[in-house]
Amino acid sequence: MKVGVPTEIKPDEYRVALTPVGVRELAEHGHEVLIEKGAGEGSAISDAAYEAQGARIVPVEDVWGEADLILGVKEPQPEEVGLLRPEATLFTYLHLAPAPELTRGLCESGATCVAYETVEDSKGRLPLLAPMSEIAGKIATQAGAFMLEKPLGGRGILLGGVPGVPPANVMIIGGGAVGMHAAFIAIGMEADVFVYDTDLDRLRELDIAFGGRASTVFSSVLSIEERLPQTDLVIGAVLVHGARAPYVIKRSQLGLLKPQAVLVDVAIDQGGCFETSRPTTHRDPTFEVDGVIHYCVTNMPGAVPISSTYALTNATLPYVIAVADHGIAEAARRDPGLRLGVNVAGGKVTHPAVAEGVSLEYVPPEEALGLGEPSGDGAGADGAGATATRATPGAH
Ligand SMILES: NC(=O)c1ccc[n+]([C@@H]2O[C@H](COP(=O)([O-])OP(=O)(O)OC[C@H]3O[C@@H](n4cnc5c(N)ncnc54)[C@H](O)[C@@H]3O)[C@@H](O)[C@H]2O)c1
Repeated sequence: MKVGVPTEIKPDEYRVALTPVGVRELAEHGHEVLIEKGAGEGSAISDAAYEAQGARIVPVEDVWGEADLILGVKEPQPEEVGLLRPEATLFTYLHLAPAPELTRGLCESGATCVAYETVEDSKGRLPLLAPMSEIAGKIATQAGAFMLEKPLGGRGILLGGVPGVPPANVMIIGGGAVGMHAAFIAIGMEADVFVYDTDLDRLRELDIAFGGRASTVFSSVLSIEERLPQTDLVIGAVLVHGARAPYVIKRSQLGLLKPQAVLVDVAIDQGGCFETSRPTTHRDPTFEVDGVIHYCVTNMPGAVPISSTYALTNATLPYVIAVADHGIAEAARRDPGLRLGVNVAGGKVTHPAVAEGVSLEYVPPEEALGLGEPSGDGAGADGAGATATRATPGAH
């Protein structure tokens, strides 16, 4: 199979979807790898480093024109959607539930589009979202601490306080991969930290992980509302797999916060979990609504490509090799967790939460890929095999 890697063109995106390690592994499996000239530059990977492991360095049109499997990091930009061939498979972050126009474009391309963020492992976790969530979580607290500085528009409070002066209060809503890593950094910076989640088992795990250094709170409209008046920094990190993010803070509640408090909406890539959020970029990361600073960068890990590229590709490589070795249909038949990643195939939306988010018809991936009934008997790229009974991501 020909595997292609274009340069990421989203503003301030410096990650790349494959490292020389991946080129070598694919070459060992008999595949040909086409890398767009300069694709690794943002992550300090030279064309020569790819070539040394057997890649061919090509212009962008050859990547889109020749590759059977195209690997990306962020969702395809409008000019890239038009380059997708019907026989190609695109494997990248897609975040389609809040993006009807992109979803329609991908359907019209006829290509098979697999989203990193809805692939699941045998335990129902998100192995291809987790590494970026860990990074985004850590950045969320760093960015929030920075934006709280007065010259940047914030309240002018130091997260950790100093002897004789109390620390700032940090509320983290959603205690998954993002929330836990945001909390670890906030704890490290000596803030007072409260983590909210609706999943009691998750709160139990967090309680043990924090060892008393942060509080866990069952998330509800009232419990959030009661703490907002004391809060300096809110980090929004909720996720319902594949679906548009629910609003956990409404515009009418912004007035409960202190003036110039900071909201960091990490869930902005799924549409945002604060009603007043809208996507921003690293170059212009914040805006103000009703006296509250909003930070809503959609590709936070893109700012630290040297960490993110390796964290991402360590996780994606086993799946990339499975798809290259078997083709997407057979790889998805063998691994029901990978099948959950198939968001668009045969011109149809094949993920129920995406279909609901964009108000388009849902067609099961088994049908769109011509697999027949789900088998649930595969080994899976994580070696354990996910069960077909989890093919209802919206239920998580
Ligand atoms: N902006 C970025 O650059 C960036 C980077 C990585 C991840 N993300 C996004 O961050 C979000 C979180 O990702 P994750 O990997 O931590 O997900 P996760 O599945 O690990 O955790 C999400 C948590 O939210 C909880 N939750 C769901 N609904 C809730 C509610 N109403 N109130 C409180 N908690 C609720 C779940 O129980 C779960 O523990 C996702 O939208 C993801 O796409 C954004």
